[in-house]
Amino acid sequence: MNRRQLMMGTAALGGSLATQWPTPSQARAASAGQISASPREVLSLNAGWRFHDGDIAFPKVTGHGWTYANAKAGNAQGAASTEYDDSEWQDGIRLPHDFVIAQPLTRDANPSQGYRPRGIVWYRNLLRFEEADRGKHIEIQFEGIGTQATIWFNGTLIDHNWSGYNSIYLDVTPFVTYGGHLNSLVVRDDADQMQGWWYEGGGIYRDAWVVKRSATHIVTDGVFAHPIRTTDGWEVPVEVTLSTIAKSDQTITVTTDLLDADGRVVVSAQGNAVVKALQTAVLPLTLTCAQPHLWTLETPYLYSVATRVVEDGRILDEVVTTCGFRTQRFDADHGFFLNDRHVKLQGVCLHQDHAGVGVAVPAALWDYRLTRLKTLGCNAIRCAHNAPAREFLDACDRLGFLVMDENRVFNPAPEHMAELQWMVRRDRNHPSVILWSVFNEEPMQGTEAGYEMVRRMREAVRELDMSRPVTGAMNDGLTAPVNVSQTLDVIGFNYQQDAYDAFHKANPHIPMTSSEDTSSYSIRGEYATDEARHIKGGFDTTAAEWGETHRGAWKAIAERDYIAGGFVWTGFDYRGEPTPYVWPTNSSLMGILDTCGFEKVPAFIHQAQWVKTRPVVNIAIHWTWPGREGQSIKVMVCANTEEVELSLNGKRIGRQRVDPFEMNFFDVPYAPGRLQAVGITGGKTVATTLCETAGKAVALRLTPFKPTLLGDGVDAMPVNVEAIDDHGRVVPDAAHMVVFTSDTVEILGVGNGDPNCLEPDKASQRSLFHGMAQVIIQSKPESVGMATLTAAAEGLKPGKATVSLEARPAPPLQVTEAPVQTLENWFHAPFADRAPDPTSRPGAGDNNSWQWFRAGTLLPAAGRTGFSLCAVSFTPFARGQRKGGQVNFFGIRGRAKIYIDGQLAGSKSDDTAGPLSVVLPAGTGERRLVVIFEATPEAPVGFSDVIQVASN
Ligand code: GAL
Repeated sequence: MNRRQLMMGTAALGGSLATQWPTPSQARAASAGQISASPREVLSLNAGWRFHDGDIAFPKVTGHGWTYANAKAGNAQGAASTEYDDSEWQDGIRLPHDFVIAQPLTRDANPSQGYRPRGIVWYRNLLRFEEADRGKHIEIQFEGIGTQATIWFNGTLIDHNWSGYNSIYLDVTPFVTYGGHLNSLVVRDDADQMQGWWYEGGGIYRDAWVVKRSATHIVTDGVFAHPIRTTDGWEVPVEVTLSTIAKSDQTITVTTDLLDADGRVVVSAQGNAVVKALQTAVLPLTLTCAQPHLWTLETPYLYSVATRVVEDGRILDEVVTTCGFRTQRFDADHGFFLNDRHVKLQGVCLHQDHAGVGVAVPAALWDYRLTRLKTLGCNAIRCAHNAPAREFLDACDRLGFLVMDENRVFNPAPEHMAELQWMVRRDRNHPSVILWSVFNEEPMQGTEAGYEMVRRMREAVRELDMSRPVTGAMNDGLTAPVNVSQTLDVIGFNYQQDAYDAFHKANPHIPMTSSEDTSSYSIRGEYATDEARHIKGGFDTTAAEWGETHRGAWKAIAERDYIAGGFVWTGFDYRGEPTPYVWPTNSSLMGILDTCGFEKVPAFIHQAQWVKTRPVVNIAIHWTWPGREGQSIKVMVCANTEEVELSLNGKRIGRQRVDPFEMNFFDVPYAPGRLQAVGITGGKTVATTLCETAGKAVALRLTPFKPTLLGDGVDAMPVNVEAIDDHGRVVPDAAHMVVFTSDTVEILGVGNGDPNCLEPDKASQRSLFHGMAQVIIQSKPESVGMATLTAAAEGLKPGKATVSLEARPAPPLQVTEAPVQTLENWFHAPFADRAPDPTSRPGAGDNNSWQWFRAGTLLPAAGRTGFSLCAVSFTPFARGQRKGGQVNFFGIRGRAKIYIDGQLAGSKSDDTAGPLSVVLPAGTGERRLVVIFEATPEAPVGFSDVIQVASN
């Protein structure tokens, strides 16, 4: 099979995300004994962080000795150093942490970034690894840090990462220390850097993990298992990438099982591999399956692939990935086919922020967001304009969405090519992913340079996945003599709807899709535009100059078979890009849904346009217009039926043939009461909707997204809030301030969908906007029973939401420690016959007479009687400087005298090893601790354990 055949759809597609948590089917399979325990540990690194809002300048390094030391591994300076005093930083920070969302809206901040000040911040953590971890491969994983991160581990710079959207995998094994020797992990995050023109948030805003594996193991994202349809059935070629940190080559066996959704093993395969020391090896295996359940949008059936590394009958490692059996094909005449069935892409572009949480989006919120879109008939998502969160793709697999997965930085230079390849490697097992997008609206799209860049990026994608086409979102350059469309598999059109036909005519063999369209303004609950108040209202009448109305954009796509579909800009409103306004408008107005996922007018339009499987009728306006009695009010009715009929208070207003693109309008003289629309098909009423005039707001109603919250301290959900009248009708002009309280859940944040609202999101109160608001709640760890949230507003009966808390253990946590100053890096003078002066130091410029050594190691035996002087300089933590403290030697061996700043502070007079504490007097600035050991040929000396400074 050649590449083109694969791309054109003879191949089915799958995914290979290294699932961190077992899916229900995997858990069942494990409990049924089909998967035996693997020593791999996946520990959450979301806890224990300390945070500094603002940059911390590095000290100016001066003098020969300091300059020499500064250049060495392990000796990072300033806030990056192992010994830095972070004890007074903000602690208890839990990831995911978007620090930008907590910033106040500020008029002189960047409008594109939602008027939230960004900045440079620091994070520190202290990790403990046990002696039993020695020999394991230890990897730290950050799933996303916005924007430019520099990372140190135990004082050694281990990475800098310049994309806020890709994961960072760090093999820290060579640097780790065990037992009482703690490990410092430091992140400097420069979020002044921006990669987008929308709200990007900042900080360690996705999950972090510590993954401990056997020395010989499967690398991260190291199982590629993507089903392919063959002439007589299906195959899952499983490509396993193995690695070892063992000191010699390893011969291992790899087994892989395909499990159905009930955890039953369908088929297995096995092979052997030799993994050379410190190298990787790729082992291909094949699973065959004659008649799998297909992954479809209606029934997104998922299989698991459990891949194990076995050595002498012992499991060394195991990874469970998810895959789906489906084919895909883009056809230049007829658009997109899934499993050989035509599917029009009814898609939306999404940025990743949500009300209340910014970009630190809990996994459960993706379910909410996607479920909201699914009700509208949406079946495709474009990740605009960056690689999405892992949980988002998992949810798309589960819920049945098609995804255009998009890369952020358009640049084939090695560092950015690595980001692109990381995305493909991480995401290529997901059945939901159907397109790789390598750019959005790049100025070089119509140039030879642009063409050459895309040509290389496409090749980099195809090195890893030949089953999905590569696209790019073009808003220009299509007719340039050399342009990027000439090296794309599917052309993505951003806007330019007038150019669809001409391009297709000139390039009849190139598949096309709209990659972005519409950009039409609307605000929930607003039906009249008021520029002075930054209000865009009405029924989808004000599109951006470069855009189209929701109705016009979809019509152009729907009427052209050769256009695979469209991606509306956008599914949800997002912070930033408040076009066409500036302050105080701080979020976009182009969503089908607002930032909370509440319906705006376009939601009713798209639901009527997109839903094909059930009758739909909606009235796209409320019916509470006190003071406008007798005046004519324009009413939009959105239906997918043949006809629609509108009546007010039982009196027929009119009946119309449904216009499936433009929708239907009625002029209705206002009278309070019941406005009813019925959808009629084949002469029969098949759908009905009611809109009733609301009275005075009397109470608050809370609607949780789901009835149960897992009590693991991770699960979250939105709770929607409405002001209602005494008949339970939402009151559209209610704007009460609502205060939320709960003893049983955490309140993560609040929102109301008003793009002009300046209230904070990180709060426990929010004003209603057109009668509605939203609060995001999260369970507390180890909670069980019932959780209650109450909402109170002046003059209204309080609302109450109760959900059950299902016992669920919190994810296992990496052990982290409170700040403590550890003195690890010591210097010792040459062995001397006579007791040296405790204030002695190496001569200026002498790099060689004195030697570095680490606490926990004994001094080299001199084999004779004499003295060894060991020294360390340190600045005690601020509290210790103020109040004094102790230097605690957890293990000191041999006879020794201890001096602080030249003064005798303690002594030990026997040859054994044991603990010792000496008093550290209060005092500012750098201190010098000296230990002079007295050794004999029989008695080794030195520090057998860690040394820590405690403050009083
Ligand atoms: C497009 C761009 C989007 C967004 C949109 C607003 O040109 O790709 O990111 O800026 O315009 O209409």
